[in-house]
Amino acid sequence: MDKLRIIGGARLEGRIPIGGAKNSALPAMAASLLTEEELLLKNIPFVNDIYTTRRLLRELGVEVDFDAGQAVRLRAARLRSYEAPYDLVKTMRASVLVLGPLLARVKKARVSLPGGCAIGARPIDLHIKGLQKLGAEVRTEHAYVEAAAEKLRGAQIIFDKITVTGTENLMMAAVLAEGRTILENAAREPEVVDLAELLTAMGASIEGAGTPTIVIDGVSALHGASHAVIPDRVEAGTFLIAGAITGGNIELTACNTAHLTSVIEKLREAGAAIDTDQGRLRVKGGDALVSADVVTKEYPGFATDMQAQYMALMTQAAGIAVITEDIFENRFMHASELMRMGANIRIDGSRALVAGKTRLSGANVIASDLRASASLVLAGLAADGATIVDRIYHLDRGYEKIEEKLRSVGAQIERLK
Ligand code: UD1
Repeated sequence: MDKLRIIGGARLEGRIPIGGAKNSALPAMAASLLTEEELLLKNIPFVNDIYTTRRLLRELGVEVDFDAGQAVRLRAARLRSYEAPYDLVKTMRASVLVLGPLLARVKKARVSLPGGCAIGARPIDLHIKGLQKLGAEVRTEHAYVEAAAEKLRGAQIIFDKITVTGTENLMMAAVLAEGRTILENAAREPEVVDLAELLTAMGASIEGAGTPTIVIDGVSALHGASHAVIPDRVEAGTFLIAGAITGGNIELTACNTAHLTSVIEKLREAGAAIDTDQGRLRVKGGDALVSADVVTKEYPGFATDMQAQYMALMTQAAGIAVITEDIFENRFMHASELMRMGANIRIDGSRALVAGKTRLSGANVIASDLRASASLVLAGLAADGATIVDRIYHLDRGYEKIEEKLRSVGAQIERLK
């Protein structure tokens, strides 16, 4: 298993290009199931979740070819299976995104129940309820969701809770349903808007993506399209914190600054200087970081996917920061590893109290999930001496060449095979 070795203390300086959003690329690839024609997706990050999706789609019968230049061509001319098996779903929960499109295209789907993960229980009951509203028969047996529908019919679906992939799954099921579907209390994440744009380019009729009410008028067929996925706001946010935590001066290019508003505002509150300029961001870390409380929320609030990285930053800020995790029930696994490096953190239910500034000292630490891994890398950049981050297969699921990008701005970081 690969590890990362980081020698902390370097002030990061230079320019980092931001890649495409993993969380946009995954539903976009799943959308290829909705048409016989070719989909060309650009700005795809070549991370492990994308390779897992390639495996899954190939098993279903989709031709998937990666082009040079971060592009992927997908063609689902004829599907040969409608099952997402356990061994793929367990490595990547987002595999559940094939449920809606399979049901729409071949009238049936069999998808392994994802189960919990390091950050919480993570049920998919809202995906299932929504599909039932569209007329699907759904039963769960042997830990598989089996769904079938002769015909999907438009319906009004009110989500009890805001769910990103739930909204995406239902949107993909509804585009080929008969009549009008109205999704209420829908997720407003930029990745949902990006998927709506792709589906619209494929011939779907969707209004309101980016608001809590999405209206979809079903069409009889979709066609091929070409689409570039949006920049990864979590990757950009992670590098902003890398700049701030090392007192560095980093420019990020190819970002969508509008998607980062809540992160930028929070980092400014904490004392980092950030300039934005049409797809570019510059962060300068000051010596005087100060604590700033944060509560994770659905978009446009502060993303839960940035919480772990922000906690690493708060260990280097003066004062006590209260970090409240409002989306997932168990997303503080990184805290105990940060504490092993010298951080002063107390967990109280869904709140973490981080007292700073503390000196961090390099240590052997274990990554528990994707964003927790990023948090440990950031802590390692600020720590004295060597930090070795183990189980970085989590990191490789969602960050493309993170060590190369960090090295290019002066970090001392290497991958140990
Ligand atoms: C997506 C993102 C993930 C991010 C999360 C929250 C992808 C591939 N992943 O995950 O990176 O951290 O949004 O921004 O886009 N819930 C239910 N029942 C359901 C579905 C969700 O109770 O049927 C709950 C979840 O347990 C969680 C909350 O709703 O507490 C939000 O989860 P959701 O938005 O669905 O997360 P994902 O779409 O899985």
